[in-house]
Amino acid sequence: MFAAVVLFVFLCLTATANADHHHPCHSPNMTGYLSVINHKGEVKAGGGFTYDSIGNKLRFRSNESSPVNTSLTLDLLVFFDEGVFYEIDSKNHSCAKKTLHCTMNPLDVPDDATLGGTMHIGSASVKGEGLKVKYWTGSMSGKKDSYFMSTTMGCLPVSTVYYSDSSSLIFSAMEVHTEIKDPELLIVPPLCVGQPLEETPEGTVNSFLHEFM
Ligand SMILES: *[C@@H]1O[C@H](CO)[C@@H](O)[C@H](O)[C@H]1NC(C)=O
Ligand SMILES: *[C@@H]1O[C@H](CO)[C@@H](O)[C@H](O)[C@H]1NC(C)=O
Ligand SMILES: *[C@@H]1O[C@H](CO)[C@@H](O)[C@H](O)[C@H]1NC(C)=O
Ligand SMILES: *[C@@H]1O[C@H](CO)[C@@H](O)[C@H](O)[C@H]1NC(C)=O
Repeated sequence: MFAAVVLFVFLCLTATANADHHHPCHSPNMTGYLSVINHKGEVKAGGGFTYDSIGNKLRFRSNESSPVNTSLTLDLLVFFDEGVFYEIDSKNHSCAKKTLHCTMNPLDVPDDATLGGTMHIGSASVKGEGLKVKYWTGSMSGKKDSYFMSTTMGCLPVSTVYYSDSSSLIFSAMEVHTEIKDPELLIVPPLCVGQPLEETPEGTVNSFLHEFM
């Protein structure tokens, strides 16, 4: 676990320099379901998400009535552009505002991703039985920490895998609709309004990914 955290810290802090001429696409506004599985096959969390592609804001809430046991209960509101996020705990009536150190977002292709190509998931020849996807890759300054992301041809996220030698996280998007169904979810809830920004303890890196480690 410690090794995994250290590696992902590195993944977050280093920028990729190999820009490609195939410019990455960007996902539209979306509402959907996101599941997160780690390299041990544990379902870390599953729940609804709302994503504003213009404002670069994401809300993710674990679904506690999920049919599989998950190890995490999370309600996160992430403002990627502002570099802050909120950990909301409505049961406990508490909210923490934290600095975001890494903008990795499994629902949007990074600007410096490389287009790997296209492929069919399922069948290419039987109508309605396959999905044509583009896949994108990126690595961090020549290191082994990388991501692999697949999107539909119209840039809706399908799955994103972050991996290092010792660990990986797989995000899968399902039941995606290309609209924001409930805009309220992207507004800072009353519970969080006026919360002071928490100081980050020395050595800690906060990101959307780190919430699932
Ligand atoms: C996406 O959502 C934002 C926030 O609700 C809105 O301002 C923007 O117009 C939407 N974009 C599209 C293309 O619908
Ligand atoms: C939560 O999970 C249940 C059971 O799988 C499902 O019926 C429901 O639609 C989910 N709710 C959300 C908000 O994802
Ligand atoms: C979920 O966890 C509880 C408590 O550990 C267990 O009793 C239950 O059978 C588990 N359910 C599933 C679907 O794995
Ligand atoms: C509830 O919130 C308080 C204050 O933030 C925190 O110290 C405590 O651990 C929380 N309890 C639970 C069960 O999350």
